[in-house]
Amino acid sequence: MADLSVNVGGLKLKNPVIIASGPLTAKIERLKKAEENGAAAVSLKHSLLKQQFISKPRWYVEKNVGIVVSGDPRLNVEEAQDLIQKAKEETELKVIVNMSALPTDIATWGQLAKAFEEAGADAIELNLNCPNLHTASVTGPALGANLGTDPDSCAAVVRVVKDSVSIPVIAKLPTEGGRILQVAAACAEAGIDVLNVHAGFRAAPGLNIYNGGEFLYPGSSAGNFGGNSGPWSRLISNRFIADVAKACPKPIMGGGGIGKWEHIVESIMYGSTAVQVCTSVMFEGYELVNKFIQGLSEFMEQQGYASIEEFRGIALKNVLKPGQIKYTNISAFIEEEKCTGCRKCEKLPTCEAISYQEGKCKVDPKACVGCGLCVGICPVKAIKIVAV
Ligand SMILES: Cc1cc2nc3c(=O)[nH]c(=O)nc-3n(C[C@H](O)[C@H](O)[C@H](O)COP(=O)(O)O)c2cc1C
Repeated sequence: MADLSVNVGGLKLKNPVIIASGPLTAKIERLKKAEENGAAAVSLKHSLLKQQFISKPRWYVEKNVGIVVSGDPRLNVEEAQDLIQKAKEETELKVIVNMSALPTDIATWGQLAKAFEEAGADAIELNLNCPNLHTASVTGPALGANLGTDPDSCAAVVRVVKDSVSIPVIAKLPTEGGRILQVAAACAEAGIDVLNVHAGFRAAPGLNIYNGGEFLYPGSSAGNFGGNSGPWSRLISNRFIADVAKACPKPIMGGGGIGKWEHIVESIMYGSTAVQVCTSVMFEGYELVNKFIQGLSEFMEQQGYASIEEFRGIALKNVLKPGQIKYTNISAFIEEEKCTGCRKCEKLPTCEAISYQEGKCKVDPKACVGCGLCVGICPVKAIKIVAV
């Protein structure tokens, strides 16, 4: 049996799957479901000393794209403390507390973290990327997502919190602003234990184009640009994970768009030690976590990996500059018995190699440039790439 356990900056987990901060981690009943289905840890819903305003859940949802979150109820400190205590009494989960300070005073980052450590938290997650709320930075109040683009503010927050608690501290970084490597380096310098890296960008919801451009958040025709989660972000997240893993020696919790166990393997191969998952579980239920763990375990058995560490970061050696890439000669090949003659590949406007003959599509290997577009769009997976 493969060993799925990981140690992420001092936080020991039985496997690398963490339910990310959000509605899935706002109530004890939900945490119990996460545990029943095998999650190793939960990052609790964003917690504050006091909510600045009460927001209702207002989510713009596109199934294969993701969710834009304009509003979601947070936890006040007492609610979070109660949830931590219940989670520690009633489950074996590792409890991470996702938090940010009042906008007025950077010291409250430390006070709040201390209160959560005393309530039994296993780790603190600094929410440096909140798209909706203001918090304290070195220059005064800042939108969470903007705070996280300022290396000095992030380092100051990390120092305040590290001075206040002895449990591991995670920095949840935004990818907006193009300064993630500087922010990661500043957090590392200030003593952070773990970096949480995912493609976190604010996005604009869909519009009612027939009614004056109302935002399509249910129950509110206006709102703010919300945090955007879900499938769209996976490949971009992997890029940021790889970038940070190459530049910074700190352990990474990767996330963003994970929907299958194969995505977890990819995230680990790009450098994550553990992963955080939210949207796919919101769509498909906590049972998905079971599938993740089973798939990961079987993959490791089959590939002969005894531990996560054996394949963590192995893809980083393949991240090269364009001029360093060596090309081999390849061509698409269509398996005749599988081809249904739908002609989708033949109609690709940039392809000069595929023709339709007697009810089937065929490739001329001499004309094929090996781009792989036909492989990606074939509805019956009849096309593969072969060496020529
Ligand atoms: C409805 C909703 C609420 C969320 N609330 C929080 C939050 O309170 N704190 C936080 O740091 N991230 C929050 N997130 C972001 C997730 O924790 C996660 O980082 C993000 O969704 C990317 O992962 P995913 O693509 O698997 O969803 C929320 C996401 C969603 C969809």
